[in-house]
Amino acid sequence: MRRTLRVCVVLVFATAQTTALDSRFYLFTRENRSRYIEINRDNAKSHIKDDTQLRFVIHGWSESRTTNWYEDLTNALMSRYNCDVVQVDYAKVASEPYPIAVKSSVRIGEEIGSFIVFLTTQGVSLQNILLVGHSLGGQVSGYAGEYIFRKTSKKLPQITALDPAGPLFQGFFNINGKSLNKNDAEVVYVIHTDKSLFGQRSTCGTVDVFPNGGSDQPGCPEKDDHWFCSHHRSFWYYIAAVENPNTLVAVKCESYDDFLAGKCANKRKIDIGGDLTQADRGQYFLKISAEKPYRLV
Ligand SMILES: *[C@@H]1O[C@H](CO)[C@@H](O)[C@H](O)[C@H]1NC(C)=O
Repeated sequence: MRRTLRVCVVLVFATAQTTALDSRFYLFTRENRSRYIEINRDNAKSHIKDDTQLRFVIHGWSESRTTNWYEDLTNALMSRYNCDVVQVDYAKVASEPYPIAVKSSVRIGEEIGSFIVFLTTQGVSLQNILLVGHSLGGQVSGYAGEYIFRKTSKKLPQITALDPAGPLFQGFFNINGKSLNKNDAEVVYVIHTDKSLFGQRSTCGTVDVFPNGGSDQPGCPEKDDHWFCSHHRSFWYYIAAVENPNTLVAVKCESYDDFLAGKCANKRKIDIGGDLTQADRGQYFLKISAEKPYRLV
């Protein structure tokens, strides 16, 4: 009797899990940028071409797919990379109080990872899938990458994390015991803009870029964006860099002070809107203007 009960409970739980996904996927294609379709396991095959590169974008805490940077980033990525874009929405979890959202972000990452593994069984190459996540979405990207590696022994080619969330993901207060790190994809590319408050304090990728030193961005705080101004600069800089190839160029250096002192002028450079490689490993610095359009200064 007890055994039967347990089986039933497990079945009910399993069913609830498969039906109640908290992440949704909206596909935008280059054919018609003003049209999108929600994709899932039943219809993905008929909407995604096998050789298409897909870039998933993943919002942060208290956001949803209506967030004000999704459209600009989607258009910028399509124009530069000839890719299609999947806008992820996990609004229900993202609207929970922050600590609860942090707890649930593991599950959101696994849902995304599981969907991507499914796509690879349908003819999409893992090499054609890249993730871009901001803040909590940066951490979600890491959980997705880790899940994919656990299930397939293969890594995503690149995760781009735009000021991945720091609070409750670091040190003693790292409540999930795992945060975004360099093992989560072949290239884990991190742009740090608010390391002293809402972003990760220290390096966590294969490539870590620190615009204006990585915190207290010039022009911040703004009247309409007091607390999160520096945190949000991460996606505005990235969008500007994707839109304008080889303009926002960062230099490899030991520290921001060395960079400012000109000690690294002849060192390796990267385009911060570009795709990176294993050879680009390290820390990079650049100075960006205080206002739009964001340009090198
Ligand atoms: C693109 O999609 C929109 C929205 O569905 C539609 O109104 C428009 O006619 C489409 N444009 C083209 C060129 O197919």
